[in-house]
Amino acid sequence: LPAMTNNLTTTNRHSHLPARNSAVLKRKAVVIGEAVASDDADRIFPDQDFAQQAHVPDFGKYLEMYTWSIEDPAGFWSEMADGFYWKKKWGQQVNSENLDITKGNIKIEWFKGGITNICYNCLDRNIESGNGEKIAIHWEGNDRGVDDSLTYNQLLDRVCQLANYLKENGVKKGDSVIIYLPMLMELPISMLACARIGAVHSVVFAGFSAESLEQRIIDCKPKIVITCNAVKRGTKVINLKDIVDSALSESSQNGVHVGLCLTYANEPAMKREDTKWQKQRDVWWQDVVPKCSTKCDVEWVDAEDPLFLLYTSGSTGKPKGVLHTTGGYMVYTAATFKYAFDYKPSDIYWCTADCGWITGHSYVAYGPLLNGATVLVYEGVPNYPDPGRCWDIVDKYKVTIFYTAPTLVRSLMRDGNEAILGSVGEPINPSAWRWFYNVVGDSRCPISDTWWQTETGGFMITPLPGAWPQKPGSATFPFFGVQPAIVDEKGKEMEGECSGYLCVKTSWPGAFRTLFGDHERYETTYFSAFPGYYFSGDGCSRDKDGYYWLTGRVDDVINVSGHRIGTAEVESALVSHPKCAEAAVVGVEHEVKGQCIYAFVTPVEGVEYSEDLKKSLVLSVRTNIGAFAAPDKIHWAPGLPKTRSGKIMRRILRKIASRQLDELGDTSTLADPNVVDQLIALADS
Ligand code: WTA
Repeated sequence: LPAMTNNLTTTNRHSHLPARNSAVLKRKAVVIGEAVASDDADRIFPDQDFAQQAHVPDFGKYLEMYTWSIEDPAGFWSEMADGFYWKKKWGQQVNSENLDITKGNIKIEWFKGGITNICYNCLDRNIESGNGEKIAIHWEGNDRGVDDSLTYNQLLDRVCQLANYLKENGVKKGDSVIIYLPMLMELPISMLACARIGAVHSVVFAGFSAESLEQRIIDCKPKIVITCNAVKRGTKVINLKDIVDSALSESSQNGVHVGLCLTYANEPAMKREDTKWQKQRDVWWQDVVPKCSTKCDVEWVDAEDPLFLLYTSGSTGKPKGVLHTTGGYMVYTAATFKYAFDYKPSDIYWCTADCGWITGHSYVAYGPLLNGATVLVYEGVPNYPDPGRCWDIVDKYKVTIFYTAPTLVRSLMRDGNEAILGSVGEPINPSAWRWFYNVVGDSRCPISDTWWQTETGGFMITPLPGAWPQKPGSATFPFFGVQPAIVDEKGKEMEGECSGYLCVKTSWPGAFRTLFGDHERYETTYFSAFPGYYFSGDGCSRDKDGYYWLTGRVDDVINVSGHRIGTAEVESALVSHPKCAEAAVVGVEHEVKGQCIYAFVTPVEGVEYSEDLKKSLVLSVRTNIGAFAAPDKIHWAPGLPKTRSGKIMRRILRKIASRQLDELGDTSTLADPNVVDQLIALADS
């Protein structure tokens, strides 16, 4: 399994066949594996039965489609877009190609002049084609036995009611709406309702703190905030409304006043009467939305009208509002979902991501629903009330495609062993075991390691299960229309086997169009490092067979349990603590989380090191950003290794943090080389 923090999927179309069948299939897979030449030992071949029925059954077919997508992007993507409903077809030009900042401003456009609506294409279109009674969403609550489901017809009704409510309250095309909700059905409903009326949604992950929420409210000035009173995560109740109250009152003081906070009463977590309430601003969802009409006309929008904003961390400064538009994003998420997961209408699909991140946008909500899929939405934590919960859910809903982050696989593997060792006197759920065995063990189910980013909208480098052999840990080959380039320090593209910076050469439909309110930052961050290319911020190598291997961020961004965090943000949260003079944060490899946050902290003069101070520093990060960004380790630092010009040498800090003390390298250029010895001496204090 890949060690990187990335996204994995497994397609398990045969999971509910009797054991006898799976044994046969497994044996076949082993035979194929054994029959191949020895240098193929690191490859895992797709099961032949699986490959035969796949959308892209072999490498030849992939090459044919890929070549078409590169030589004639307009033709290829027009064909992909044809399956959708367009009120009016796009103009002459399908796309704009310039990614070269030296030739002019970066302005990416796809299907410009085309008029459509993504909510219509997710719901109405699928209903019109006869899928109204198909389940769109299965919802599984935090507590066992609490569940619900919506057909496409019912989902459309619910979306229309909310859309009407938003319209009645003055939300118009182009207005932004902040959604701060956990994984209730109301979260995708809210996203779709915004899309239906042309409003721009900005989902803020419900693990972000009040200060982070406030920052986002101030940046995008929403007409309305949609939230719920509380959520249960395992046994813990989190009072979301308090967080929203604090964010709204702070943002008001900073000149951004939001007049309406639509609050869903999530009663299993908290009773209405226990919720703090501001009469003039707060409204219970259940009091108003169900009264609205279930018919709501679609607001037809241009393909290039904004669909959503999603804030993400960069290596410097405040989080950036990544802006995605409608048409290209629609076509791209739908196509990537269909091909990378080899989606078939009978599949039951579960993506464990939260809609607060890009994975939830593209592959919980839009990609699957555009394909008319049945999606499972799970409210809770994967190992509550016990480590078997995930596999129970897979079993309960007969999930055939499971998309998750390696951090979850790693934590379940760990729990899984304990569960097996500890299961004396009690049978292990056999189907769960088989599933676990097949996925983690023999891999009869293809595993797809998908590389992409908030900025890319959808998968960029991804296996197509069935089309070619996998190499565990490699994201394999580019998706249709994607031209990756590995460049050296000087921005020169390298050929063949190589290692360097991962860029993309030409635009693709799912690309983000700008950073909200700061197009200049968009151009300098992504397009000026290597002129002519989009620069991803990731390192990458390509092996002799052309497989791509992601090697991690080359900038100061850390990936903790799949959550993207800028070191600068954590540092500024630490420094906001009155007793912290200076802080430097690095990412360190972590067995389960992929990376964890390791902070070097210099207290202000005269302050003693203490466990209490550590705790209060960590708390400062929790309240500034959110619990998921809390440092795992605070390392006292009387001084930080700096160059004579005052730049912190993070390379050295990373080595100290990971205890690779014999690899510190040249420290003679430091302003004060003694600092390093002091840090080593304090490593475990
Ligand atoms: C990392 C998440 C290795 C990468 C979809 C990227 C990966 C960042 C992979 C984006 C992968 C994503 N293998 N690393 N398959 N997929 N990453 O914006 O560093 O939250 O730049 O999007 O995650 O994180 P983001």
